[in-house]
Amino acid sequence: MSPTRANDDSPGAGKPWEHAKAGGSGADALAAQFVQSLDFDTRLYRHDIAGSLAHARMLAHVKLITGDELNQIEQGLATIHSEIDDAGDDWPGWRIELEDVHMCIEAALIEKTGDAGRKLHTGRSRNDQVALDLKLWIHDAAGQLQEKFDTLFHAFVELAGRDGRIVMPSYTHLQRAQPIVVGSELMAWLCALDRAQRRVAALRTVNQRNPLGSGAIAGSSLPLDRDHTSGQLDAGSPTPNSIDATASRDAAVDFAFAMSMIAMNLSRWAEQWIVYATQEFGFVTLDDRYTTGSSMMPQKRNPDMLELIRGRCGDVYGRLVALLTLCKGLPIGYNRDLQEDKRHVFAAFDTVCDCMDMAARIVATARFNEERIASRLDEGFLDATSLAEHLVTRGVPFRTGHQIVGALVKRCLDDGVKRLCDLPLEALNDACEAAGAGRDVLDRAVYDSLGPANVVGRYTTTGNAGQTGFETQLEAWQSRLGA
Ligand code: ARG
Repeated sequence: MSPTRANDDSPGAGKPWEHAKAGGSGADALAAQFVQSLDFDTRLYRHDIAGSLAHARMLAHVKLITGDELNQIEQGLATIHSEIDDAGDDWPGWRIELEDVHMCIEAALIEKTGDAGRKLHTGRSRNDQVALDLKLWIHDAAGQLQEKFDTLFHAFVELAGRDGRIVMPSYTHLQRAQPIVVGSELMAWLCALDRAQRRVAALRTVNQRNPLGSGAIAGSSLPLDRDHTSGQLDAGSPTPNSIDATASRDAAVDFAFAMSMIAMNLSRWAEQWIVYATQEFGFVTLDDRYTTGSSMMPQKRNPDMLELIRGRCGDVYGRLVALLTLCKGLPIGYNRDLQEDKRHVFAAFDTVCDCMDMAARIVATARFNEERIASRLDEGFLDATSLAEHLVTRGVPFRTGHQIVGALVKRCLDDGVKRLCDLPLEALNDACEAAGAGRDVLDRAVYDSLGPANVVGRYTTTGNAGQTGFETQLEAWQSRLGA
C-alpha cells in the first residue's frame, strides 16, 4: 500500500497537522525545540499505544474503520512498541519536529500503514489522548510504589524485631520526656508510611475516569462509543464532561501531593536518625556503606544518604508547588502550559523512588546501641509522669500528684540526686504531705513505678509506646507482611 503523504512543502514544515497556517512552527529551530516535549514524554509510549489500541478497536466496533484497517493499526502499533522497547531513546521515530510522543508514534504508524494509520486519530485530540496517557502512567507508577513500600516496611519490621525491645528515652521539644521502647518509635514511622501507602492507593478512587473520547474540548459528532473504549482500559468509566476531562490535571496534582507526603515522612525520619547518629546521642549506628568520609577530616562518618533524603524532599515539594501554580491561572479548556505537568510528575516520582530504595537499605543495616542508650537512661527523670500516675492510683488528684513530683524533681536537682528512685520512701511521703495529699500515701510499691525499665512495662493504653503497645503493633505488622 502506498501511504497518502502530506505534501512535504506544506507550510507546516514537517508538522503534518499544520496546514492552516502561512508558516510552520517547525521552520524556526528554536521554536521547534521550545515547544517539543520529547525530552520527557517518551516515557508515556506504552500508555499512549495502549490508548491508541483501545481507540482503534472502538473505531472498528462503531464501523468508522474496517476490520482490515484495525488489523494494520494493531500490527503497526505492536511493531512500534517493540521497536521502542529495543531502541529506547534511540528510536529513529523520535523526531523533534513532531513535538511529542503522540505525534511521533502516529507518524511512524502512518509510515507503516498509510491510510489505516491516518484514520487512527478519528474523533480524538492530543488533548484527551495525553490526559488518558498520564492517568494510565500514574496508575502504573502507583503500582510500582506499592512494591517499594513493601520493601521499606519489611526493613522497619525486621529492625523492630531485632532491636525493638531496647528501652530508650522519648523526646518532646527534643527534651527528654518518657521512656519508650525503640520498636514503638519504629512503628511510628511505619504508621506514617502506611498512611502514605494508602494515600497512593486511594489516588485511583478519586481519579478513576477515562478522558478518551472527549476530543479537543467538546467531544465529537462521530458515533464514538466511549464505554467500549473504557471497557478495554483500566481507567474507569468515561469522564462526564469533555471540557473538564481535557482541561484538568487534578490527578497529577494529587499524585504529586501523595509523593510529597512520602518525601515529608522520609525526610522527618532521616532528620531523626541524623540526630541519633551524632556522637552526642549515639543511639543509632549506620552501616558504613551509608555514610561518607570527609575530604579533609580523616575521622568522619557523615550520614550523607540520610541528609540527601531530607534534602531531596525539597525537590518533591517544588514539583507539587510547580503543578499547583501551573494550574491556578489557566482558563478552562486545554492550554499548552499543561504539557509541563509531566516534567514535574515524573521527577517527583523518580526522586521518591530513589529515596524509598535508599531508606530501605539504611534501615535494613542500622543498629540501635543498647549500651550507649542505657548508659544515660537515668538522666532526665523519665519516670516522673509514671510517679504522678502512681499517686493517682493512691487517690491523689492528678494535679496534686503533678505538683508533688515536680517538687521531688526540684529536690533531686538541688541535692544532686540523679534518680527519683534514690529518694527514700520517707522523702516521697513528706512531699505528699507538704502538698496536702495526706500522710503515708505511699508504700514501697512506689518503687515499681520508677526506673525506665519498669515504666515501659506499665503502659496499658491501646497504642502505647511501651512493651505491650509495641508487641501488639509488631505482631500486626508481622502478620500483615507474612513474616
Ligand atoms: N504534548 C502535549 C501535552 O503534553 C499534547 C497535547 C497538545 N495539544 C495541543 N492541542 N497542542 O500536553
